[in-house]
Amino acid sequence: MIEKYKEINAYIQKVEDSEKIIDKESEAFEKKWKWNNYFWNTNDIIVEIGTWLWNFFSGEVSKNNDKNFIGFEIRYKRLFVTAEKTLEKWWVNFVLIKSMAQNIDKIFEKNEVSLTYIFFPDPWDKKDRQRKHRLWTLEFISNLYDITKSWWSVIFKTDHKWYFDDTLELINKFSKWNIEKLSYDYEVEIENFDKKNLTEFESIFREHKMKINYLELKKLKT
Ligand SMILES: C[S@@+](CC[C@H](N)C(=O)[O-])C[C@H]1O[C@@H](n2cnc3c(N)ncnc32)[C@H](O)[C@@H]1O
Repeated sequence: MIEKYKEINAYIQKVEDSEKIIDKESEAFEKKWKWNNYFWNTNDIIVEIGTWLWNFFSGEVSKNNDKNFIGFEIRYKRLFVTAEKTLEKWWVNFVLIKSMAQNIDKIFEKNEVSLTYIFFPDPWDKKDRQRKHRLWTLEFISNLYDITKSWWSVIFKTDHKWYFDDTLELINKFSKWNIEKLSYDYEVEIENFDKKNLTEFESIFREHKMKINYLELKKLKT
């Protein structure tokens, strides 16, 4: 079946051939609790969910050689372009995974991840039929908590206030996460806003002067 799609989408083959992309979920599942072996070091693991193009991911990889980066994306072209653009800057400490980020509990062991970035995930509609595709669910919030190391964090940004509020409600219901920072207009309200370090979506929203909702969660010692 996949062979048929390869004729239509040349990026399927490119992704398959890339040494910087794990395109089979089973291979990613096998690395659970073994990511430090994969990177040949014991450095912190930083995850970005929904890497789309490359600017934030590649920038972080090249600036932080003392950390290991794992990016999640589901689209072939986006994966391949991000891998290539990141390789232009630095080549050692990163890998991209073609998988739904909902699989984090199968890919990481408890306390395996230091920091997770979730920037502008698709919000999906409020209708039940659409809502089931959302990334932020109680199960995801719980799994994210489990895989995160104590004293480490998750940073979430979205332009959709209703999605932000729905997510906050779930996080409060789960109750274990400590809310370190919360803002409905983080460019104005949060200190140290770094306007040079933005994802593609955020750059577009800034041009339109849209307010960005920002949440920083911390796992306190358990
Ligand atoms: C709205 S874009 C935001 C991209 C980027 N984070 C930014 O801020 O510019 C969402 C990205 O997440 C990817 N995506 C959607 N659902 C996903 C999922 N369940 N797991 C991993 N990536 C996903 C999409 O393919 C898309 O590239």
